[in-house]
Amino acid sequence: MSDVIISPSILSADFANLEQDIKLVQKFGADWIHVDVMDGHFVPNITIGVPVVASLRKVTDLPLDVHLMIENPKKYVEPFAKAGADILTFHYEAVNGDDEIIELIKYIKSFGIRAGISIKPKTQPEKVFKFLPMLDLVLVMTVEPGFGGQSFMSDCAKKIKLLRDENKDIIIQVDGGINDKTGLICKNYGANSLVAGNYIYKSSDIKEAIRLLK
Ligand code: DX5
Ligand code: ZN
Repeated sequence: MSDVIISPSILSADFANLEQDIKLVQKFGADWIHVDVMDGHFVPNITIGVPVVASLRKVTDLPLDVHLMIENPKKYVEPFAKAGADILTFHYEAVNGDDEIIELIKYIKSFGIRAGISIKPKTQPEKVFKFLPMLDLVLVMTVEPGFGGQSFMSDCAKKIKLLRDENKDIIIQVDGGINDKTGLICKNYGANSLVAGNYIYKSSDIKEAIRLLK
């Protein structure tokens, strides 16, 4: 694995050809597959759910990095874990209170998978500092969650440095408007996992796009 974990977002892939599109990025060195789950409530868009993750599990050995942009994430932890998710990242803003967040992290880990927390652009990183020692990953959104293909918000990327100063070991992932240039900015702030949708899947040279991200 490269020192930066590349997690292509299949939101920008061809949903009628997911197996082919996953094998393509796998061949060119993708480390994880990023799966964006949206419920039409927490975000204004609806995407895919548990059955798709179960199907993807059958066609790839890459870790399935599942980004839950949903209300009441606890309800869906067991179904996603049983479907084959390897990393479950929920949103700080979707859970009420610190006790419930701690309980949810423990619950995700009870399935033997990794747990992540994500913060939207308006959420300050200090809000999640206390949870970092319990977590495997923190996901900094550099767009408002909901859609692929939006522009990178550079102010949000500065949160990465604050999180890295607070915790040296955690995986810091960044998602939204990532390309070779914005990815480098994030890496320099201390990110070690890049999600990219449009930059990879809409590229005329996917192999080169992944190479440049790495
Ligand atoms: C947005 C999703 C992202 C999205 C990124 O809410 O969480 O994972 O697919 O797409 P790009 O890389 O095109 O901004
Ligand atoms: Zn995502």
